[in-house]
Amino acid sequence: MSISLDSSLLFSTKIGSNGIKPQDLTIKKDILAKINENTKKGSYGFVNIVKNEDIIQKCQAIYDQKKWAKYMIVLGIGGSDLGARMLQESLEIENPPMQVLFGGDTTDPWQYYDLTSKIEIEKTVVVVVSKSGSTIEPACGYLYFKNLFRKRLKDDWTKHFIFITDANQGIMFNEGKKNNVAMLPVPDDVGGRYSVLSAVGLLPALSMGIDIVKLVKSADTYFNSILKQTPVENIAWQIALSQYQYQQINNIDIVVLMPYLVRLELFGNWFRQLWAESLGKDGKGILPIKAVGPKDQHSQVQFYNQGKWLSTFLFIGATNYAHDIKLLSKDDKDLQYLDGKYFNDIVRAECLATRVSLAKNGRPSAYIEIDKLNETTMGELIAMFELSVVYLAELLAVNAFDQPGVEAGKNYMYGLLGKKGYEDKAKEIETF
Ligand code: PA5
Repeated sequence: MSISLDSSLLFSTKIGSNGIKPQDLTIKKDILAKINENTKKGSYGFVNIVKNEDIIQKCQAIYDQKKWAKYMIVLGIGGSDLGARMLQESLEIENPPMQVLFGGDTTDPWQYYDLTSKIEIEKTVVVVVSKSGSTIEPACGYLYFKNLFRKRLKDDWTKHFIFITDANQGIMFNEGKKNNVAMLPVPDDVGGRYSVLSAVGLLPALSMGIDIVKLVKSADTYFNSILKQTPVENIAWQIALSQYQYQQINNIDIVVLMPYLVRLELFGNWFRQLWAESLGKDGKGILPIKAVGPKDQHSQVQFYNQGKWLSTFLFIGATNYAHDIKLLSKDDKDLQYLDGKYFNDIVRAECLATRVSLAKNGRPSAYIEIDKLNETTMGELIAMFELSVVYLAELLAVNAFDQPGVEAGKNYMYGLLGKKGYEDKAKEIETF
């Protein structure tokens, strides 16, 4: 594995009376065994998809048909958006074969003005990603680009679209069938926020030049490896159980994810959705917050360190930062302490300093170290956080795979916009 966990600053031996004890992380082995057994049995769609080479082949085939494109616009929201975005930010690709742009996560018209100004219609393919096929934001994006492309390209507009949606039903599926648009399926048993390693994330990733085989294989290796690990070796379990115990013992309901890697900022967005939608229900949950080091040392850390104690912390750092540079400052009297130091060492020192300063104030943290950012570590990080949230959901006794609170808001909005069948929702709002 290219990721490891240092959990020492979670414990009372280091952080004093706020801390949990190593034996607090030895309970609930039945839950660990149950989830691992489910993983082995193939009960989880998000685990099964990384074993299914068919998805990679289907993505490759559609990509090959659209190789002529210079730009790809991906329209999606939530789980149909955040995974591909974070892959683009986190993996460094020289000369990506297509310029992949994102939209469909807002109905602010500026996004469409901006995207339109960045593309050439003749050289652009638009990918609409919506598992349900009915989500309003990507649907609006679809309507906008369909009309724009149809005006310019006449009947050829359909060649410029790909739909990633349910394999049998829904508005986008029907549109695809009617117009003979290329389509890729989102498997039934893979929910949006767990879908980054399905066509949802893989087609955009392939178009960015990411080695999707490596990415998927790495996640698969990770899922297989946890089955052989002891509870202490299992990072996903240690993270889940420590969050659970901090809530049980100290009423701490928040976790702050703070990577010290600029290219993991959007990973924080992906993580936040995965954990928030999977855990926040039935009046329960652990609220995920995102920060980025070192920049948020000068924005959030004052509160984290000395404000009301509300959270635990999950730091991510790398052993090897890409493009390392040595600083020279022999002649700069006040900056001489930096002479001969590498950025790699400085960023690692900043992360350690923050962890220690928090620990000294009784604020618990765990530290995940990756070797370096690449397809292998991203595959492992994705698999680890997905599994971790499923463990935690089981510990909290909530369903990790539904999101009824999101649906409630959607239904009111349909009522407000006059969608057929939602008249009672419009009435409810009026009365309210
Ligand atoms: O994780 C989820 O299920 C959600 O965040 C969905 O991804 C989001 O609501 C978008 O849904 P859809 O893909 O159906 O348009």
